[in-house]
Amino acid sequence: MKIAVTGAQGLLGEECMRTLGAEYDMLPLPSHRELDLVDFNATRDWFLAHKPDVIIHTAANRDPDSCERDHDLAWVSNVLVTYNVVNAARELDAVFVHASSDAVFPGNRDEPYHEFDEARDPINLYGYTKLASEKLVLQYLPKHFNLRLPLLFGRTGGLTRNNLLKARHAALSGQKTVAAGDTFSTACSVRDVARSLAVMLKTPFYGTYHFANSGEVSRSGYLQTFLKAIGLDPGWITASTIAEMKRPARRCHHIAITSLLLKPVFGITLQPVEDALAETVADMKADGIL
Ligand SMILES: NC(=O)c1ccc[n+]([C@@H]2O[C@H](COP(=O)([O-])OP(=O)(O)OC[C@H]3O[C@@H](n4cnc5c(N)ncnc54)[C@H](OP(=O)(O)O)[C@@H]3O)[C@@H](O)[C@H]2O)c1
Repeated sequence: MKIAVTGAQGLLGEECMRTLGAEYDMLPLPSHRELDLVDFNATRDWFLAHKPDVIIHTAANRDPDSCERDHDLAWVSNVLVTYNVVNAARELDAVFVHASSDAVFPGNRDEPYHEFDEARDPINLYGYTKLASEKLVLQYLPKHFNLRLPLLFGRTGGLTRNNLLKARHAALSGQKTVAAGDTFSTACSVRDVARSLAVMLKTPFYGTYHFANSGEVSRSGYLQTFLKAIGLDPGWITASTIAEMKRPARRCHHIAITSLLLKPVFGITLQPVEDALAETVADMKADGIL
């Protein structure tokens, strides 16, 4: 089975390449610079030349603030790009894995959203683009796994795309990292997502699935836990409030997702978030990143 991965240099894409590569024949899409997926014909040509059986689509602009600053760019990067990749999947009759987000929900309710909650009323443009992207997948492709993902973390993505490594680099350079201490959410390790996909891709149980390690984190809290775990002072992380940070995109104070389906359908139970963070640290050490 040949699996193509868009955004293969990103946090999630790189981990999918690595974890699924132990079992499957992997085809990384060229980097953004080499192949801009905004280009319909170039995208179609690449896929028709390589004919993957599965497409894992992770490429997107995942920064809500830059989406809010430039609406056109957000729609193009997140929805037009998905349209182009969906079109290629349709022509090839490929299985499509879509990296969606908890941002399709408005948040600010106590209980977690599950797969049977209706995705609607996102609170920022990023959320609207992910919702529109989901609709394309659901409308055009019967063979899809639509993954709703919360805050992601892992060993991959390098300094530019990995918030844990960014915070470590800043601390080692004597600089503080400011992060919100009053926004709480579920989170998921990209290793757990990729490991689960290895199981899911062996089945025809297509549909929408939520991914979250059990437990919740604050944006500042998970960075502090990480620094502590690698022997650095958690005081390098300054907890601010989302209001003080004056970010262009609205954020909610609480959003959690949970899965009613992963266990009964695939036998998958995701580990607690503390264990997933500890595993990430161990992976970083084993890979010589730390
Ligand atoms: N990270 C999170 O916390 C999180 C949470 C929920 C959902 N998600 C979703 O999960 C997916 C993966 O996120 P991630 O954190 O792995 O993102 P990431 O680290 O920013 O990686 C995205 C990759 O896609 C590439 N890319 C973007 N636009 C492209 C284009 N037009 N053509 C070709 N390549 C393009 C990027 O290249 P450049 O960097 O060179 O542009 C980058 O390599 C996204 O769809 C995101 O919306 C992420």
